[in-house]
Amino acid sequence: MTVSLVVFIFICKSISSCKVSTLSMQDSNTSGQVPQILYPSNNTIEALIGSKLDITCTVMADLHSRIEILVYWLANHSYIEDYSKNTRVREIRSERREKEAYYIDAHLSFSEIKIKDFEINFVCVVLSEEIERVSFIFIKPAVSNAASDFVVGLAVLISIILVSICIYKFVKSKHPLRYAILK
Ligand SMILES: *[C@@H]1O[C@H](CO)[C@@H](O)[C@H](O)[C@H]1NC(C)=O
Ligand SMILES: *[C@@H]1O[C@H](CO)[C@@H](O)[C@H](O)[C@H]1NC(C)=O
Repeated sequence: MTVSLVVFIFICKSISSCKVSTLSMQDSNTSGQVPQILYPSNNTIEALIGSKLDITCTVMADLHSRIEILVYWLANHSYIEDYSKNTRVREIRSERREKEAYYIDAHLSFSEIKIKDFEINFVCVVLSEEIERVSFIFIKPAVSNAASDFVVGLAVLISIILVSICIYKFVKSKHPLRYAILK
């Protein structure tokens, strides 16, 4: 039973359209009191320098809970306002009430990714009553499309050359044989 449940959750997670049922399953599994961080999950994402990026910390709480829940981001233990003195990195909070649970989203919005972001531990913190939960995310530099296109192009070119050499050698080695047969 547990195994099939795990397999089902795994399959669900690989199909994003199945998200809602995974969430409600987590809901019924937990006591429903402590808010859960659904994302991030101590993971790493890729981004290009100069590109925009939005990371959303999604917290799920009990639909009927009356406790106050604080959700915020830290950048290497600093508040976002202190990490980005201008508005390059902004934090926007929103809430939504759905059928099965109450969700709080803390959006971390980068107007432009800078090199220094790659060295920061971005942590989403959830505080409710005495309980604190954290989940972090790292941003790492993505290989740009131009660079990966170049690598693919090079690989194709090298294989074409190798195949041509093989065909050439094959044809060359066949020729004397063919003459021998013809004679
Ligand atoms: C942030 O923390 C990471 C380790 O978690 C460290 O490697 C990095 O140098 C720190 N960055 C800054 C700007 O303090
Ligand atoms: C992520 O790391 C924090 C400690 O940094 C830990 O408390 C938390 O349980 C971890 N979450 C997951 C999903 O592994």
